[in-house]
Amino acid sequence: MTGFFCAGNWKMNKTPEQAAQFVRQLKESATAEEQKHLVLLPTALIAYEVAQGLKGSGVAWGGQNCYFENSGAFTGESSPSLMKEMGAKFCLVGHSERRQIFAEPDDMLAKKTAALQNLGMIPIVCVGETQDDRRWNRTQEVIVRQTRLALASADPSKPIWLAYEPVWAIGTGQVATPEQVEEAHGILRKALKEWSAMTSDRIPILYGGSVKAENSASLAALNNVNGFLIGGASLAVDDLLKIYRNSQTVRS
Ligand code: 13P
Repeated sequence: MTGFFCAGNWKMNKTPEQAAQFVRQLKESATAEEQKHLVLLPTALIAYEVAQGLKGSGVAWGGQNCYFENSGAFTGESSPSLMKEMGAKFCLVGHSERRQIFAEPDDMLAKKTAALQNLGMIPIVCVGETQDDRRWNRTQEVIVRQTRLALASADPSKPIWLAYEPVWAIGTGQVATPEQVEEAHGILRKALKEWSAMTSDRIPILYGGSVKAENSASLAALNNVNGFLIGGASLAVDDLLKIYRNSQTVRS
């Protein structure tokens, strides 16, 4: 997979009917080439509708979270192998809402990352600093530590994506400045190089946090920004496609 990617994290939104309707509209509106650069991340209970609807299209989908075991007594968890069987290609790991609201620890995220890679799926590992981290100049330390820990058991020869999502920019409308994004992505690229000099340049680093059609071109033009992880603005087909199309105006 090459190029620029837009992944829509729907979080805990949409009914099965709304998901099916979204997928129908997306398939009608996005060209075959555009479809190859789009990923939908529905909540588990509507994954079936998304998987069925996307069959035969170029759009990929993935989970928002999974456990690191494939089956067993893990009440309430989602199996990565089942997700794969349903057609998922991706799964988010360590979204800040998982880290903060559900207190997911770094060692568990490392296990999830490795489990997904072992199944041939692509983990999208999310990192990002809080407002306090940034205020106290801890951004670099935090995002490098989160990256190293999540990748501790990962295999550099297998596909993996990274997403930089400053916690203070998520769902707040307060997008990071181009300077802040370029700096953080540069730091992450360097951390990836230290992890795997051979493959680091091929690892997409997505930006997430209040990405909208209006700011997508300026963010997509930055060094080391290889795509977006989009929350609120991925809930409507028109918004998602506008973001992708605006990003292409500065990259082609
Ligand atoms: P928003 O685009 O709504 O800020 O959400 C970003 C996000 O958390 C994507 O994973």
